Amino acid sequence: MQNKMINKIAIITGANRGIGKETALALALKKYTVVMACRNLVQAEVVCTEIKAQSANPNVFVYELDLSSFDSIHRFGKLFSENFGKLNILINNAGITQRNMSSLPMDLKK
Ligand SMILES: NC(=O)c1ccc[n+]([C@@H]2O[C@H](COP(=O)([O-])OP(=O)(O)OC[C@H]3O[C@@H](n4cnc5c(N)ncnc54)[C@H](OP(=O)(O)O)[C@@H]3O)[C@@H](O)[C@H]2O)c1
Repeated sequence: MQNKMINKIAIITGANRGIGKETALALALKKYTVVMACRNLVQAEVVCTEIKAQSANPNVFVYELDLSSFDSIHRFGKLFSENFGKLNILINNAGITQRNMSSLPMDLKK
């Protein structure tokens, strides 16, 4: 069963903390290739190292993604498809809550 997961690729947005981090760990433990799509690269790299150690899965990667910027989204999409070419699971975890609506970033206001 586990071997079937080796080539499965998952993207998790906002995987550097909270539910996204726990989801990234759960998938790493199941031997998915995990792409942590995060805007806070410093924190994401620390968490990535933790997840690799806890899961004994070296296939956990950090990619920069700021969902408030269309440029960042396009860059992420290009890099991801160049490096992986396929996607099995997309977990849209990073989100905007009601209390953050007043500080909606510029790209999303257009
Ligand atoms: N926790 C709950 O009880 C609950 C209930 C219902 C729904 N949810 C939803 O579940 C999701 C995760 O919840 P959580 O409690 O784990 O949230 P959290 O701890 O606040 O984490 C949110 C994650 O999203 C990232 N993020 C926010 N805006 C981003 C952007 N523009 N680009 C890239 N990443 C961005 C954050 O990155 P930074 O570290 O860089 O800020 C962080 O990694 C959210 O969508 C939330 O609305 C949560």
